[in-house]
Amino acid sequence: MGKTTKNIFSFFLLCSVLLHLYFSEGVVAQEVAKSESDALGEPEKRETLEIIIGGGSPIIGGGGSPAPAPETPCPPPPPKPLNRLERARRVLLNFKTLIDDPTCYTQNWNENTYVCDFRGIRCATYPKEDQKAVAGLDLNGARVTGKNGCALPLSSLLGVNQIPELTFFHVNSNGFAGTVPTDVIKFPFFFELDLSNNKVKGQFPLDAITSNQLVFLDLRFNELTGPIPYQLFQKDLDVIFINNNHFTQCLPENFGSTPARYLTFANNNLTGSIPKSVGFAPNLTEVLFLGNQFDGCLPVEIGNLKKAVVFDVSKNSITGPIPLSFGCLKSIQYLNLAQNKFYGCVPDNVCQIPSLRNNGNLSLADNYFNEVGPSCWSLIKSKVLDVSKNCIPGLPNQRSPNECYHFYKTKKTCPNPSSFYTVPCKSHWGNPSSETTVPTSAPVTYKTLKPHRLRL
Ligand SMILES: *[C@@H]1O[C@H](CO)[C@@H](O)[C@H](O)[C@H]1NC(C)=O
Ligand SMILES: *[C@@H]1O[C@H](CO)[C@@H](O)[C@H](O)[C@H]1NC(C)=O
Ligand SMILES: *[C@@H]1O[C@H](CO)[C@@H](O)[C@H](O)[C@H]1NC(C)=O
Repeated sequence: MGKTTKNIFSFFLLCSVLLHLYFSEGVVAQEVAKSESDALGEPEKRETLEIIIGGGSPIIGGGGSPAPAPETPCPPPPPKPLNRLERARRVLLNFKTLIDDPTCYTQNWNENTYVCDFRGIRCATYPKEDQKAVAGLDLNGARVTGKNGCALPLSSLLGVNQIPELTFFHVNSNGFAGTVPTDVIKFPFFFELDLSNNKVKGQFPLDAITSNQLVFLDLRFNELTGPIPYQLFQKDLDVIFINNNHFTQCLPENFGSTPARYLTFANNNLTGSIPKSVGFAPNLTEVLFLGNQFDGCLPVEIGNLKKAVVFDVSKNSITGPIPLSFGCLKSIQYLNLAQNKFYGCVPDNVCQIPSLRNNGNLSLADNYFNEVGPSCWSLIKSKVLDVSKNCIPGLPNQRSPNECYHFYKTKKTCPNPSSFYTVPCKSHWGNPSSETTVPTSAPVTYKTLKPHRLRL
């Protein structure tokens, strides 16, 4: 076991370094405004870190020195099977013939360059073998498209006869089209797929998530359609970004089985209510449901999410009161319920959550709330709480009494209304002003709402 584990480890060390970079870079600075040309500069920065693992001796297959010709002719030796690097090199050079490359990203992909030095290519020692392999491909922001307006299928790179050694495939902001090849499933060490901001079509790529190692899935800003399969929530994914596609239908009831921390379903065409099981997702830290057509009431189970920092269901058609259980969201910093059909009293225990009071953001604008408790008044004053465009007497920027009257006359009630008054935690925050400050980090998921490459 020892040796195997070690080999796989070295292969994965690279991976975890990258994953870590994905998550650490840019936390400090707001990168939202960064241009894509900045993103292009990044692979070089990473090189230094990875050189220990991926760098190394040059020249395999690139020219080589000619052997002296033998005196007497022999029968030619049987052709040697291609080694992993050579096979990958041919795939990459062939890929180059298929593309228009306006940023010259693949400029050094040529016969004179060692394949591990190709821009965007990462090599590592293949597990259990003493040979290098192309372990990762990063074309983020390259903006390559099919040559002369032809479609650029993902299968031009993601085939099992091409580079099955891949552990990650990052192609943010390119012109890849068509469906996700089923071959990805057969890559034994594949763990990060980023196809964001391309023109990928078809149903949810179930094959892509069947790979057992996959932890990072970024499909946002594509043209995917159809339902989100329940299998997605059975996988050990840490990150699921599928916002800005055309997914439809209800979220599967097993949503809460996912161990993921960061999930974005924003800006699709999802319908139905938010499943109860969301409240039991063990690691859920940030989730964006905004910009869909969700309706029904919020499940009171959401209040169980002790680690949730971001919960955003804005721009839907959700109704009912805010369950008192929301006062138990003890890590919440961004709670956004704006632009829905919520009504009733804003629970005072929600306005007492220290992480919200302390630089958080509670947006309830554009609903039908008609009352706020004393702790909420102070949050309105400190601009943490936005209740504009509601039905609250005595506040500016509210809906007209007539509009409110008509809404309340026809408002929908929620099933099991008494559950909305249950508080499943000790809602005892003490004196808010004396609370110790919780260290807060910038949220990750809101950055996914821009199409460019993510620096988490
Ligand atoms: C959602 O569906 C409506 C019509 O049913 C359509 O107009 C809209 O573009 C769709 N939105 C997305 C994000 O696909
Ligand atoms: C996620 O939750 C599972 C199940 O509770 C746990 O085993 C795992 O360690 C958690 N992962 C993270 C990253 O917190
Ligand atoms: C709170 O969030 C809303 C919605 O994202 C945003 O418009 C507003 O500027 C934020 N307010 C503060 C004080 O950060």
